[in-house]
Amino acid sequence: MQFEENKDLSALNTLGFSYKAERYVEINEDTALNEAVEYAQQKGWPVFVMGGGSNLVLTRNIPGLVIYLSKNTMQYDIRGPENCWLFKITVGAGVNWHQLVRDSVSRGLYGLENLSLIPGNTGAAPVQNIGAYGVELCDRFDSLTALHLPTNEWHEFDLASCEFGYRDSVFKHHPDEYAITSVRLLVGKDMPQETSYDSLSQLITRRYTQNEITPEIVSNTVCELRQSKLPDPSIIGNAGSFFHNPIVTRAHHEGLRQRFPNLVSYPQEDGTVKLAAGWLIDSLGLRGNRKGAVGVHDKQALVLVHHGGGTGHELLTYAEEIQQSVQDKFGVELIMEPKVL
Ligand code: EPU
Repeated sequence: MQFEENKDLSALNTLGFSYKAERYVEINEDTALNEAVEYAQQKGWPVFVMGGGSNLVLTRNIPGLVIYLSKNTMQYDIRGPENCWLFKITVGAGVNWHQLVRDSVSRGLYGLENLSLIPGNTGAAPVQNIGAYGVELCDRFDSLTALHLPTNEWHEFDLASCEFGYRDSVFKHHPDEYAITSVRLLVGKDMPQETSYDSLSQLITRRYTQNEITPEIVSNTVCELRQSKLPDPSIIGNAGSFFHNPIVTRAHHEGLRQRFPNLVSYPQEDGTVKLAAGWLIDSLGLRGNRKGAVGVHDKQALVLVHHGGGTGHELLTYAEEIQQSVQDKFGVELIMEPKVL
C-alpha cells in the first residue's frame, strides 16, 4: 500500500484551510480498508477517516494516517412487491451526495430531492443526519455498514442503532471510531412529497399545481433556494450552517418573544421551541461582518466563511465571540455544528 506523505488537505476541506496529513491514502474497497487499518495499528499510527470534508474545521496538521474513502458504487434494488416501486439504493461512502440525489431524481424517484446540493460525500451524511427543507437523512434511511476502527471489525447499523436526532447520531458520540463505507437508502415512485417548508412551498406553489410536481422540480427549486443564500464552497470557504438551531424551553421562548417580537421560532412536539440561529446572529448586526480572513456570510448569518489565508484557530475564536454575544443578548447557548480537529 502506497502512502502519500505531507499531503496538503486544503482541497479536501470545504473551509479551505491549509493543513497537512502526515500520511494519506485513498481507499475504494472494504478489504483494502481492513489492510490499511491493520498496517496503521502495527505502526502505532493514529487513523483519521475523511469524507468530503464539508463539516470539518481543521486547526492543525494531522499526524498518523488520513484515509479518504473513495468507494463510489451505486446500486438500485427493487424492494418489496414490484408494483410498490420502492427501491433500496446501496451507496458507496465516496459518492458525492448531490450526485446521488441527482441520479435518483433523474430516474423519477422521490425521497432525496429536498436534500439537493448539500456538500460532502454519502458516507458522512448519516454522521450528522443531514437535513434540509423538511427532510432528514433518517427519514429515508435503511441501514449502513461501518468498520469499527479499534477492532478492525465490520458492523451493520439499522435505523434504531444509529440513534438519529436533529444533526445527531450515535457516530457523533463515538468520534473517529467508525468508518462508514456503505449507506442504504429508500426511495420510490410513490413516496409522499415534502414541500411544506415555508420558503420551498412559497416558490413551488407560485409556479406549479400539485399534479405538475416531480422530484426534479422539487430538487431544482431546493437548488435555487440554496444557491440564493448559501455560499458555494468552491468559491468561498465554508462548512454550511456553523451552529445548530438552538432549542429552548417554552418559558424562555415566551420571555424572548416579548423582548423581540420578530423572533423566528418553531414549536416542537415535546413542548420545547427551536429558534433560528441565523436570525439570532443576524439580529446582532453580524450578517456580512468580517474579521481578518473569516466572517459571517452576507446572505445567511448561520454560515461562517473563510475568505482565504486564515487558520482554523482564527475561525474558532471568531465563532466563540459570536457564541458569547448570542449568550449575552438572548441567554441562548449556540452549539457548533462542524467537527473540530
Ligand atoms: N434568518 C434570518 N437571517 C439570517 C438567516 C436566517 O433572519 O441571516 C431567518 C430566516 O428569515 C428564516 C429563518 O431564519 O425565517 C430560518 O432560515 P433558513 O430557512 O435559511 O434555515 P436555517 O434554520 O437557518 C436550516 C438548516 C440548513 C438548511 C435550512 C433549510 C440547521 C443548522 N440549518 O437553516 O442546513 O439548509 O434549514 O432547511 O438546521 C446545514 O446544515 O449546513 C444547512 C445549510
